[in-house]
Amino acid sequence: MVETITLTRPDDWHLHLRDGDVLRDIVPHTAARFARAIVMPNLKPPVTTTEQARAYRERILKAVPSGMSFNPLMTLYLTESTPAEEILRARDSGIVKAVKYYPAGATTNSDSGVTDMRRVYPVLEVMAREGMPLLVHGEVTDPSVDVFDREAVFIERVLLPLLSDIPTLKVVFEHITTRHAVDLVMQTPDRLGATITPQHLLMNRNAIFRGGLNPHHYCLPVLKREQHRLALVKAATSGDARFFLGTDSAPHARTAKETACGCAGMYSANAAIEFYAQVFDEVGAMDRLEAFASCNGPDFYGLPRNTDTITLERKPWRVPSVLGYGREELVPMAAGETLSWRLV
Ligand code: NCD
Ligand code: ZN
Repeated sequence: MVETITLTRPDDWHLHLRDGDVLRDIVPHTAARFARAIVMPNLKPPVTTTEQARAYRERILKAVPSGMSFNPLMTLYLTESTPAEEILRARDSGIVKAVKYYPAGATTNSDSGVTDMRRVYPVLEVMAREGMPLLVHGEVTDPSVDVFDREAVFIERVLLPLLSDIPTLKVVFEHITTRHAVDLVMQTPDRLGATITPQHLLMNRNAIFRGGLNPHHYCLPVLKREQHRLALVKAATSGDARFFLGTDSAPHARTAKETACGCAGMYSANAAIEFYAQVFDEVGAMDRLEAFASCNGPDFYGLPRNTDTITLERKPWRVPSVLGYGREELVPMAAGETLSWRLV
């Protein structure tokens, strides 16, 4: 008999869907696995208003195949000129669930981001009052700070001051990559949560250089040392309610990755829950996958857990080596490799 596991349908609490023709190629991957996803606002131009978020959400919904249901949870891109009223509009809309902080210049399409967290404190005060979570890309951009240390330095310079200056703001430390971030979340009361990606659980920074330079293993925050990967695996599989699933699946066309200056981002949506199952299985923690994937996220956001289920079976399958992406190609994470769990 094939071994199977049935879980409450999971959600993806950090996802990039892009816009336009490619939506039809990628939205079905997420909708097949997840009921909801927190959709990142780093389009060109960024999604800074509730009206833009509403229109973007409609375009995403048009790309959901008939017979599937998927609820995109929208976010606003925080800029230094986001007015407090926009937070109230977002709250009233019912479709915007969080606001995203990008340090200016930290990652893909972050030019309109924030240069100094203190400049947005007035808006963050309003968010704290309204219970609107702040999603943080936690890296400093100071060119004198080593790229592998940007998260640890961000904790000291930006996040600790923020947590003490606005003590009632709910914060999600997105795509954490270091033991420093794990320790901070463990030491902070429940208002600080963290998402963890499949790539940071499955790979360390050697993956970028194995046998030559691998542009498909370049994402931000960049992969870290093995000791950090182990800390992330321990946190994700611990059952601690503050850690939850967020893929940071971030598609870039093959031509934008395999080039002299390749874009940051890995695409994992076509095998997302399968990757996490692999991680949990490897450490004998399959019984905790549901908490991480299906319970901790909605509990943190104050949303109901899903009521339907998905089933995974232990049956090896090969991740496709390439996927369609509009008129281009998309090389997914672990392209051509074999995974042990498959979605039924
Ligand atoms: C993301 C993207 O491509 O939009 N890239 C990435 O490497 N994760 C942006 C981000 O989340 O940093
Ligand atoms: Zn992201």
